Amino acid sequence: MTFHRDAVPGGVPLDLADHDAIARVVGEARPDIVVVAAADAFVERCEREPVATRAVNVEALRRIADAAPNALLVVFSSEYVFDGRSGPYAEDDPVSPINEYGRQKVDVERIARDRADHLILRVSGVYGWSKARTNFVTQLVDKLRARERFTVPSDQLITPTPAPDLARAVVELVDLGARGTYHAAGPEILERPEFARRAAAAFGLDAGLLDLMPTADLGLKAPRPLRAGLRTEILRRSLGHGLAPSAEALAAMREREPAR
Ligand SMILES: NC(=O)c1ccc[n+]([C@@H]2O[C@H](COP(=O)([O-])OP(=O)(O)OC[C@H]3O[C@@H](n4cnc5c(N)ncnc54)[C@H](OP(=O)(O)O)[C@@H]3O)[C@@H](O)[C@H]2O)c1
Repeated sequence: MTFHRDAVPGGVPLDLADHDAIARVVGEARPDIVVVAAADAFVERCEREPVATRAVNVEALRRIADAAPNALLVVFSSEYVFDGRSGPYAEDDPVSPINEYGRQKVDVERIARDRADHLILRVSGVYGWSKARTNFVTQLVDKLRARERFTVPSDQLITPTPAPDLARAVVELVDLGARGTYHAAGPEILERPEFARRAAAAFGLDAGLLDLMPTADLGLKAPRPLRAGLRTEILRRSLGHGLAPSAEALAAMREREPAR
């Protein structure tokens, strides 16, 4: 396992912007399976700094692929490969990204598909505990607990995906020998305000502090696919089960809140 800024016991430091280091670290590890979850995943930064983010998100993956030519390559993509005009989408719907992040993910998918042994996992709205507390649910919880208002895009459809379930599903898919493209997301496609209300309720917080606002009024540089959403029938068929629905996953998240 590699890490970037936060040291992991037994892990090897690796900055994906350092392409020579990638060749060295991956070459020395000689992996059978490479799971590339690291990315500069901030949509706005991708739009503002396409060259720097592309070096980490796309060029680094090319270097990893070159350094481990026979490994199974597992990569994470996004519903942002779609334009969000006619979601929810199935795995074989044509891609048409409308921002730089989405275009980078299309290129990530291309690099993975260049080899037979690949697994592309498109995810959406991942939530769970993390040190950085940057996902939608942790941000909502932190704001509402502080009795501050929290702005929620009123016009976005998402497929909330519980991180612990996603991690287990990735391992299961690899163990099953799955290959190709999967929508690895939760079982519900929801309006974002509905998901925000469910998160507030699960944590016993005041949903009256949520401010709904159209995406166009949020002052974002990168256009967002609004009616996206990922259909997950193939994932459910392959695993024999889906990921946990939001009520269950949010309750489990509340129960397992780490001390700060
Ligand atoms: N979260 C979602 O809702 C969502 C939706 C669609 C797709 N995805 C995709 O899923 C994958 C995982 O996303 P995530 O939500 O876990 O992202 P995240 O919370 O932002 O974590 C990104 C990880 O990448 C590491 N990283 C960033 N820059 C790096 C660099 N230059 N070199 C090495 N490591 C670097 C970070 O380490 P440091 O913190 O130490 O820098 C962090 O561990 C990404 O490919 C993302 O695009 C996520």
